[in-house]
Amino acid sequence: MNRFTILGDQLPPHLVELLGDDVDVIPWTDAPDDEQAGQVVGIVTYGHPRVDGPLLDRFPNVRIVSNHGVGVDHIDVAAAAERGIPVGNTPGCLDRATADMTMALLLAAARNVVIGDHYARSPEFTHYDPSILIGHEVSGATLGIIGMGRIGQHVARRAKAFDMNVIYYNRNPNAAAEEALGVEYAALFEILETSDFVSLNCPLTPETEGLIGDAEFELMKPSAILVNMARGPVVDTDALYRALTTGQIAAAAVDVTDPEPLPRDHPLLGVKNLVITPHLGSASDRTRRRMLELTAENLRAGLLGHPLPHQVST
Ligand code: DGY
Repeated sequence: MNRFTILGDQLPPHLVELLGDDVDVIPWTDAPDDEQAGQVVGIVTYGHPRVDGPLLDRFPNVRIVSNHGVGVDHIDVAAAAERGIPVGNTPGCLDRATADMTMALLLAAARNVVIGDHYARSPEFTHYDPSILIGHEVSGATLGIIGMGRIGQHVARRAKAFDMNVIYYNRNPNAAAEEALGVEYAALFEILETSDFVSLNCPLTPETEGLIGDAEFELMKPSAILVNMARGPVVDTDALYRALTTGQIAAAAVDVTDPEPLPRDHPLLGVKNLVITPHLGSASDRTRRRMLELTAENLRAGLLGHPLPHQVST
């Protein structure tokens, strides 16, 4: 039987099982010598290790990079293409779970779920007080979604079920989404000026890096809440800290940060009007299982020189 050696770190046992008995996994952290590096024919990226041209040059026989996840901003896809290496990802299967988590964070920030949880466990909670932790009403509020791709559309559908008015900004207007979901396109500045909630659901690209900084926070309402389910670098971290601590916006809920994770003593971690989760967007049992399957399917196809079921375009 032909055996395949691949590079992959911290792969969960279920993924190793799905990759098959004929696949040997070398951890990235083992710093393979040149002879081992020459045997590596595939790379699995699990948890966003960086893959760039110099790394690919260390492994001259790689035929496939299979990414666990849809976002590939940690992979230099152009460098892989220059070397004739396809990059696979796992689109589609995680859209609903990520949209669910967007709503979870939106509601958590709007209705003081996290701060309320801490308070309800603390000795300070001695009696029901109707005047504390008054949140922001979601029903009837305007949600501005930045990024009207598959995930953004699922967020819009959920927001509509919460009776929200939904506007969106995208690189190009999405007529099909407007028709199907009753959402309206708006310029970025209009989204920022008029939305009660702004949800980032776009990929990280050179165009979206630093999309939300001081100037954008200044346009937002003091009562506005920002949700970041995209990637940390879409928001300028220092500007977010300033916006939250000076009352420029009311609150934020972020699943991703720049850097990720934030240093444990980072001032943002002490900010009360911030809800923060550790990159859980697609972390539901069914979705994560499907992501593992697609990762294995793409890898297998690439190893055999077949077209990938899901190949990232350059
Ligand atoms: C994705 O799919 O891009 C998620 O962020 C997990 O990597």
